[in-house]
Amino acid sequence: MNIIHRKGWEIPERDATPEHLFLNRRSLLTGAAAIGAGSMLAPGHALAQADPSAGLYPAKRNETYTLDRPLMAEDVTSRYNNFYEFGSTKNIYGAAQRLETRPWTIKIDGLVEKEREIGIDDLLKSVQLEERLYRLRCVEAWSMTIPWTGFSMKQLVDLAKPTSAARYVRMETFLDPKMALGQRQVWYPWPYVEGCTIEEAMNDLSFMVTGAYGKPLAKQYGAPLRLHMPWKYGFKGVKSIKRISFVTERPKGFWEALQASEYGFWANVNPEVSHPRWSQATEEVLGEGKRVPTLMWNGYGEHVAGLYKGLEKEKLYM
Ligand code: MTE
Repeated sequence: MNIIHRKGWEIPERDATPEHLFLNRRSLLTGAAAIGAGSMLAPGHALAQADPSAGLYPAKRNETYTLDRPLMAEDVTSRYNNFYEFGSTKNIYGAAQRLETRPWTIKIDGLVEKEREIGIDDLLKSVQLEERLYRLRCVEAWSMTIPWTGFSMKQLVDLAKPTSAARYVRMETFLDPKMALGQRQVWYPWPYVEGCTIEEAMNDLSFMVTGAYGKPLAKQYGAPLRLHMPWKYGFKGVKSIKRISFVTERPKGFWEALQASEYGFWANVNPEVSHPRWSQATEEVLGEGKRVPTLMWNGYGEHVAGLYKGLEKEKLYM
């Protein structure tokens, strides 16, 4: 997607494939993917690479976070993804299997007591994993429910020890156009970047995701580490994080860099503030073929509305 080439996730609802047709097409494509999988994998890629963190799952569920709708099946949420590094359609499940998730180091730098690199498996040993049932509301007006496993972003901030000068957290995905063929599309501002304020990072809802459905995170969800802030549009949830920087300047996200008139820094869900090209009043519940009203803050207002007092002049909802 770009400004001239429209984003795959921006198709107007009237153009979207109805879910039942999409799912039928998926089952065909899954068969095709199985046949073609060998040719899609990077050279030397082991087909069934064992995940060294598998023993950490399932983690105990944190019952604080409840859903107002049924939990979705894994075969719905894992077959409808945005991961532009592997293509600009929702159907990147097969292509995303090229993602190599070990070894995987994360650089923590910027305004911290001590810059460091930490391997994902050492990071997993330093934090408390838990399961949370969360909603995800895409800016494109569809939604999912997923049982994520991970740890509060607050634990990450505590581990990084930012100095008092740090105001924002900037997170960056890998850059490897050999592995991720979508990154050869030079008109995108790779690597994918997203950010939030330190206050947002410290809010208990902010979740560093490492697993889903009681297992290590499948590649298409952004293994081995992604962010999810459920009161914001899904594009804030940067996948496959390689670098976390504590900074004074407000980070410019991938979509904001591409089209600032449509995608901003805050991206808080608000049904009353339309996207310039479509309404945000309702959302399609994936797999159910129905639309429901979108909730302010995606239903998480009691946890987060207070974060934005005094910021009313900002564009909080784009
Ligand atoms: N992170 C990276 N690195 N690349 C992406 O293309 N897409 C974003 C976000 N994180 C994206 C990303 C968008 S637009 C959405 S809606 C969510 O991931 C989708 O997450 P899901 O595929 O797990 O549902």
